Amino acid sequence: MTHVVVTGAQGFVGRALVERLLADGLGARRVSRLTLLDIAFDAPHGDPRVVQLAGSIADAELRARAYGSPVDAVFHLASIPGGAAERNYTLGRSINLDATLGLLEDLRAQTHPPRFVFASTVAVYGEQLPASVDEHTLPAPALSYGAHKLIGETLVADATRLGWVQGCSLRLPGVVARPGDGAGLMSAFMSQLFWKLAADQSLTVPVSPQGVAWWISVGACVDNLLHAATVDAERFNARRSYQMPVLRLTMAEVVDALGARFGADRKALVTYEPDPLIERLFAAYPPLLTPESERLGLRSDGGVEQLITRAMAG
Ligand SMILES: NC(=O)c1ccc[n+]([C@@H]2O[C@H](COP(=O)([O-])OP(=O)(O)OC[C@H]3O[C@@H](n4cnc5c(N)ncnc54)[C@H](O)[C@@H]3O)[C@@H](O)[C@H]2O)c1
Repeated sequence: MTHVVVTGAQGFVGRALVERLLADGLGARRVSRLTLLDIAFDAPHGDPRVVQLAGSIADAELRARAYGSPVDAVFHLASIPGGAAERNYTLGRSINLDATLGLLEDLRAQTHPPRFVFASTVAVYGEQLPASVDEHTLPAPALSYGAHKLIGETLVADATRLGWVQGCSLRLPGVVARPGDGAGLMSAFMSQLFWKLAADQSLTVPVSPQGVAWWISVGACVDNLLHAATVDAERFNARRSYQMPVLRLTMAEVVDALGARFGADRKALVTYEPDPLIERLFAAYPPLLTPESERLGLRSDGGVEQLITRAMAG
């Protein structure tokens, strides 16, 4: 009996993770029960192993239902995005910080400490990045979202020390390619680039062709989350926190590769209208060195062609 809990299961990464857990299991183990938490669900899941719990992870009663039978692993993906958390501090704190602590504290009651994989973010580094970022770069979050995620990483490490969980936080870069209009996310253009060029539709991007970002496909992101949930816990560092390896690519490099995939004429569909704020937040990333993460077995997509394939799969 392997019981896995996923918070934020209806989200972009959550949906992909859920399908992988059902298809491939957790390492060598078949998942026998998969408890999904989110505010609401579009439709019942067809798989009989899935239990959907609609409501907020801020609700202790909902968490108690999720943890009602012994838990082997928790993937904590639910969050309020940076812009929304900035507009509503109380909501951001309640979900991004308080509910994370609640999810960890409630696991004290488990007989065996489950693996707890926490989706952190590159937003912990803040806006003023050094010439190159590595695993010793001190975080300096510039938004409450990043601050609360960074505190969450510390809470995961402390809950591990206390024996409540076997925790690991992974800092996610820009994950592509989110379907739809991006729900108001300032970084939506990074995903829309893929879908629009594939569909032969024009797109205006709010950054310059030389704007450089850190990219990962949703497929590689899920690989890394699953790896963090199954790798020997003895191998984790004391911080229990890792940066996901990334591809560092300019907008023009991604557009060129999409042109090579879907037709060179598609490159003309992109108009660049740089917005200084968006360029600074999403397209001014220095080199990122992640040897420690790679030693643990975490991986980037490896190349832009693979990024495109895995970003658009499924
Ligand atoms: N996608 C990215 O590029 C990216 C980058 C950095 C970090 N992350 C982190 O990775 C995680 C997953 O990202 P995503 O892109 O799938 O996010 P997403 O916004 O698509 O999904 C988050 C899910 O959390 C749910 N949620 C929000 N409040 C909730 C609450 N109170 N109770 C229960 N569920 C709630 C939402 O309904 C949504 O389905 C998030 O924690 C995010 O901060 C993502």
